[in-house]
Amino acid sequence: MDKFVGAQEWVPARGGLPKLEAALPECRGCDLWEDALQVVPGDGPRQARMMLVGEQPGDVEDKEGRVFVGPAGRLLDKALAEAGIDRDAVYVTNAVKHFRFEPRGKRRIHKTPAVSHILACNPWLTRELEIVKPELVVVLGAVAARALLGTTFKVTEHRGQPVQLPNGTAAVATVHPSSVVRSEEYRRDFGLFVDDLRAAAALLAG
Ligand code: URA
Ligand code: SF4
Repeated sequence: MDKFVGAQEWVPARGGLPKLEAALPECRGCDLWEDALQVVPGDGPRQARMMLVGEQPGDVEDKEGRVFVGPAGRLLDKALAEAGIDRDAVYVTNAVKHFRFEPRGKRRIHKTPAVSHILACNPWLTRELEIVKPELVVVLGAVAARALLGTTFKVTEHRGQPVQLPNGTAAVATVHPSSVVRSEEYRRDFGLFVDDLRAAAALLAG
């Protein structure tokens, strides 16, 4: 799956988050920069003990240039609050940094990133993990799971359970907040999502 050159040559080998963020807009590691309005960097303190990894920016994030500020972000905020997790204390990012979509009239419809996009963008995520060194990573949905836990991992089978990234970092996988936004069983699915976040918080608390 090396359809794209990948982000590696644009990722600074040294320096912290500001340097990473400054380098991101130059990235041509795959084709997604062409149609997106802007790149959306991760956000949060370098000292964060918890890192949340989503899929890719949505329509609102692409317009505003900030992670999880649209409908999925509002749901995430609500769920984090309910689980007793301070969003300002966590580092939040995405597996893929540009919005992939299909134009449908005036609307831009979310399109799941291909495996080749996930692989191309992975060097940014790897570098974020190196810089922030979170004690725990919360994996939000199948795309983040593909990026961090590989092809065989099934979120539905392991949600809320302690798992490990290949580098040994503790992790908990759960569904993507967008799936809860769209759920026909909203109350149940919101509750399950909060349960998974609580399990993550409990792991961090030791
Ligand atoms: N969905 C994501 O995965 N990330 C965002 O930033 C917004 C929506
Ligand atoms: Fe680079 Fe990732 Fe954007 Fe592709 S999606 S151009 S790899 S930042």
